[in-house]
Amino acid sequence: MPYSIAIDGPAGAGKSTIAKAVARELGYVYIDTGAMYRAVGLFCIHNQIPLHDEKSVVSHINEIDISISYDDDGVQQVFLNGENVSSMIRTLEVGEAASSVSQYQPVRDKLVDLQRKLASKTSVVMDGRDIASKVLPNADTKIYLTASVEERARRRANELKEKGESCDLKAVEKEIADRDYRDMHRENSPLTKVPEAILVDSSDLSIDETIDKILELAMNR
Ligand code: DC
Repeated sequence: MPYSIAIDGPAGAGKSTIAKAVARELGYVYIDTGAMYRAVGLFCIHNQIPLHDEKSVVSHINEIDISISYDDDGVQQVFLNGENVSSMIRTLEVGEAASSVSQYQPVRDKLVDLQRKLASKTSVVMDGRDIASKVLPNADTKIYLTASVEERARRRANELKEKGESCDLKAVEKEIADRDYRDMHRENSPLTKVPEAILVDSSDLSIDETIDKILELAMNR
């Protein structure tokens, strides 16, 4: 039986960095579910489909084919209708679009189905918002990874700075708080900590400390 580790948490908590490293350490496959919602968001942007119009987004759902594969370094690549969109989906605009389209149940049904199929074949570390609550309710280890809004904004601002982009820390904090609110208060599969998930707050932990903590939790399950 494949093993599964579910890592849920808000935007900017470091889920993908941590989940990727944990997967590498354990020899599991890392599945970034946010990337799939981002690909749907990108489809809507490219096709001028109004993101806040559920009917319109859902009416195009059968035109959207999302698949993933792994490059030689084991890095997940996301394909939208056959095109590798892995780098195109990493913008703030696409993140916001993903947050909008992820509210719609038919979008979720389509992607959850794909996520479950992937996890049925091999041991995975899967990160997202609804992994423990919905996608893999029987996951062997469930982690809720979070950090304070201030710390997540500081990390995001540092990332932007490294890319040579300037930003206003207060504006980044507001963006993160707004996205948290939307992800936690939507009707369908809101971000939530299931009671049995172990809370890991990375506000005062380094990346390596957070990875070690999760590896320890996974090995002592
Ligand atoms: O983790 P991320 O920033 O790449 O996710 C982008 C958006 O996709 C996020 O704001 C909410 C949505 N999402 C979701 O609803 N369920 C998931 N399992 C993963 C992401």
